[in-house]
Amino acid sequence: MMMTRKIFMMIMMLILFITFNEVNGQTNDHRWDNLENIINSGIAEKAFPGAVLLVANKDGPIYSKAFGKFTYNDDEQRVMNTNTTKFDMASVTKVISTTSAVALLYQKDLISLHDSVVKYFPEFGVNGKSGITIENLLLHNSGLAPDPNPTYNTVEFNCSATEIYHPPQVFTCSNKIFNSWLNEKLAHNIGEKYVYSDLSMISLMYIIGQIVKKNMNLLQISNDDLRSDCVSQIGLNAPGHETCYFEAFVRKHVLEQLGMSNSGYIPNRYDVNIPPAWLDEVYHHDLIQGYVSDENCYAQGGISGHAGIFSTLPDVYNFMDELMFRRRENFIDSTTFSLFTSVKNTQQSSRALGWDTNAEGNGSCGSLSKKTFLHLGFSGTQVCGDPERNLFTIFLTNRVYPDKNVNKIGKYRNQVNSEVQAVYDKYYASDNSTGVIIAIVVILAIGLLCGVGVTIAGLYYKLRLEKRNEYAGLLK
Ligand SMILES: *[C@@H]1O[C@H](CO)[C@@H](O)[C@H](O)[C@H]1NC(C)=O
Ligand SMILES: *[C@@H]1O[C@H](CO)[C@@H](O)[C@H](O)[C@H]1NC(C)=O
Ligand SMILES: *[C@@H]1O[C@H](CO)[C@@H](O)[C@H](O)[C@H]1NC(C)=O
Repeated sequence: MMMTRKIFMMIMMLILFITFNEVNGQTNDHRWDNLENIINSGIAEKAFPGAVLLVANKDGPIYSKAFGKFTYNDDEQRVMNTNTTKFDMASVTKVISTTSAVALLYQKDLISLHDSVVKYFPEFGVNGKSGITIENLLLHNSGLAPDPNPTYNTVEFNCSATEIYHPPQVFTCSNKIFNSWLNEKLAHNIGEKYVYSDLSMISLMYIIGQIVKKNMNLLQISNDDLRSDCVSQIGLNAPGHETCYFEAFVRKHVLEQLGMSNSGYIPNRYDVNIPPAWLDEVYHHDLIQGYVSDENCYAQGGISGHAGIFSTLPDVYNFMDELMFRRRENFIDSTTFSLFTSVKNTQQSSRALGWDTNAEGNGSCGSLSKKTFLHLGFSGTQVCGDPERNLFTIFLTNRVYPDKNVNKIGKYRNQVNSEVQAVYDKYYASDNSTGVIIAIVVILAIGLLCGVGVTIAGLYYKLRLEKRNEYAGLLK
């Protein structure tokens, strides 16, 4: 009888343990194995030397992990770290800085989507550009070419710094760059087609800077907030000085506001937490490391609307968490959030305002919902926010090491997000109440089974007792 009871107790404990693990998944967690295999394959295939990934919902991060190292070298000591590795965010700058700044000024009625660029810079109206609006710039259908022409780092463009073999990162070319921007020509008719353009975001940087300069009291920006190197090298009222006001606004009203204390333009050149980008034999004549890899941004002094922000996983988490769940009163509100992250016109592109979306399905955010807002960075960075699942992912790599032309990351971006979607929907998405109900049902079933078991055991024991008594009777 004691044996039977012990066995029942053990079976019950085992079933409870399995149930608990299935519901809570705290121990022996193999749910993310497949995801980790995908990322490790990416490293093995040399799509990127290392990566950090974070998955989070409204309650906070549910998964975060670092993979690989800064380079593919066998003796590489520097490993990716979820807290400290600082990534060149490249075009994710377009959403962290420029799009957030436009959204904040939009909320304060300091900018309208229907404003023309010439409202701010009348000289920009040359070469047929007078009809370009803020909305065209945010949607990348302004008619501007993808890149400045000529690009600011070429000998042809003739920035004085470019003549030096290792060009210094300075603002001395800003006047020339600003004038070149004013005189850009159209590549297409305004509004005609989607052409992803760094010039769109460079344009917005100048506009934001001008608005900030005109509203310094209202926006609580003082001259002391401006970077002194920016102001002294460009000149306080010289062409392109808007750059310095733009940077101050982003620093104070986005980065500081969201506690992104390890993020900003122009990192420390010798910051050991920054992984290398590519070996550049044309412009820097060096392995790019510790400064922005985008050549136009570098020639602009390291501050621009299209690139230049460096950030860490915890800081990008703060940014995405605020956008998704809007916890602060003085940041982007839910109306503005929806406006800037909802696809505008699927006939033309999957773009929202500044943000891109997963509207076409199965793109770089994989099988996350079509409402997912996203942005990619050339350096190997990506953010995806799925408002249907209340779920977001941050996937940061230095995929451009050591050769920017090796582009194998697309497949991994898709697979990582699709796998996150599958794991999330299977283990997390059904809210806790479902899990609790399952647990209760299982426990009741166990109880019932045990009850039946004990009864059977009791009957069996009784039977044996009677048999034994019979024997005893016979022996008497
Ligand atoms: C990151 O920081 C958190 C909080 O300070 C700490 O608990 C965690 O161990 C750190 N992770 C790594 C990989 O250093
Ligand atoms: C380049 O700029 C310098 C001034 O910085 C000027 O003296 C020189 O003539 C320019 N060269 C060309 C080819 O425009
Ligand atoms: C999604 O795209 C990936 C490639 O990027 C492909 O392997 C996969 O089969 C696609 N999935 C669906 C459901 O179309």
